[in-house]
Amino acid sequence: MLDIFMEYYPLFLRGLGVTVFVTIISCFSGTILGTLLALGKIYGNKYISALTRIFISIIRGTPLLVQLFIIYYGLPSYGVRLTPITAAIISFIINSGAYQAEYLRGSIQSISGSQLKAAQSIGMTKWQGIRHIVLPQALRRVIPSWTNEFIYMIKYSSLAYVIGAKELMTEGKLIASRNYQFFNVYFVVALIYLIVIIIFVYLFNRLEKKVTIP
Ligand code: ARG
Repeated sequence: MLDIFMEYYPLFLRGLGVTVFVTIISCFSGTILGTLLALGKIYGNKYISALTRIFISIIRGTPLLVQLFIIYYGLPSYGVRLTPITAAIISFIINSGAYQAEYLRGSIQSISGSQLKAAQSIGMTKWQGIRHIVLPQALRRVIPSWTNEFIYMIKYSSLAYVIGAKELMTEGKLIASRNYQFFNVYFVVALIYLIVIIIFVYLFNRLEKKVTIP
């Protein structure tokens, strides 16, 4: 197994780089999208709230692979042609955003209510209360779900393989079709995912400890 890694490590590492890059961009942008969606759903007027609700249920109610295919294979019919990586990133942002919106909604609702009223009673506007009182606490509280989401997204990013994005899974497939050592190659691929996930979980747990208010 180690010999496989030693022989092909430039390819494995190149794939890993793409995987990590795609995941970080998707999760981070997904957080921004998710925050907007959660705020829209909770505090928006009835149209905005209904729109975000519909958007979230469509995205959560359809498979990520189908969303990926619509963006990569479907959009070209309307003149939008994307590279595999871009298509993957866009569909991952949308998908992760919808899930993150729900995580954040949960944590906002666990704080909002009386705290927001308290903020307003000392003269803050609603949005000031949301920005300075509710959101900072909600974002801290959402870190465990966020860690979970990141783990999901690292693994889901392997779906980009089916549209030919050159991430870790694709590189594994290329290596395996070169040396026919399917078991060993995919075992190395699995091990790389596992190691990266363990490292990121460790980092997120440290972040969580650092920012949690006792
Ligand atoms: N079981 C998780 C949840 O519903 C799934 C999250 C998957 N994330 C995603 N972006 N598809 O909380």
